[in-house]
Amino acid sequence: MWEGPERPDHRRTEAAPTFFMKREVVRTRNFVHDAAEFILQQARAALAERDQFRIALSGGNTPRPVYSELVRIGRDLPWDHVFFTFGDERCVSPDDEQSNFRMARESLFVLAAVPEKSIARMRGEIDPQLAAQEYQDGLDLLAAQRGELIYRHDLILLGMGDDGHTASLFPGTAAVEEKSRKVMANFVPKFDSWRLTFTFPLVNQARHICFLVNANKNVAVLDKVLAGDEQFPAARVAPANGDLTWILGES
Ligand code: 6PG
Repeated sequence: MWEGPERPDHRRTEAAPTFFMKREVVRTRNFVHDAAEFILQQARAALAERDQFRIALSGGNTPRPVYSELVRIGRDLPWDHVFFTFGDERCVSPDDEQSNFRMARESLFVLAAVPEKSIARMRGEIDPQLAAQEYQDGLDLLAAQRGELIYRHDLILLGMGDDGHTASLFPGTAAVEEKSRKVMANFVPKFDSWRLTFTFPLVNQARHICFLVNANKNVAVLDKVLAGDEQFPAARVAPANGDLTWILGES
């Protein structure tokens, strides 16, 4: 799982110059296609530049049709040069209908014949603390192999809940305030259950972060998040030297 896809000859990454974050909000009635097209463009750019595309998938329901559309329009992508991680996972088995991995397997991995070595699954079926530590160790190993201080995604996909959560960073939960760990087991009282989630130190290292939010979301919360109201975790997503795109579906 952690050997990753075929890697180009080892190249040390230069310290990325600090860029100001570019933020774009795209409102579209063609949400599924436009979101898939956006991801495909990001993939082609990363593959052209680094012969690899490191993407973190978001879970829930919104991305499912986007992933299938991505496979349909991206048939020619060298999927073995794409490395998939997950921004969060429920603490369930990979065959559970709640599993984000299962959703991605059904809507993307099987359809695109993504090789297992290109997928880093969060093991929701084991002890949450162990699973989080194992995942973070895996990302740290890949980062070290590439001469990075911290694993840098080319693209992290995120969703947003009606309470303004993103990944499994729910308002008032411990992982929202984490400043050093990159992957955490996070107890979510509203579900009385554990989740595995990226934290902001990892999320905000990405080259590009894209929220995929369809039209059925709470508009008032979305407006507050877009205005930067940090009571909502989604408003605290701010790539340190990367870009942020919101793709909002409109009915
Ligand atoms: C999860 C997701 C979560 C999701 C939002 C939106 O594991 O549920 O990572 O952050 O993106 O809850 O979910 P929907 O797309 O189902 O509305």
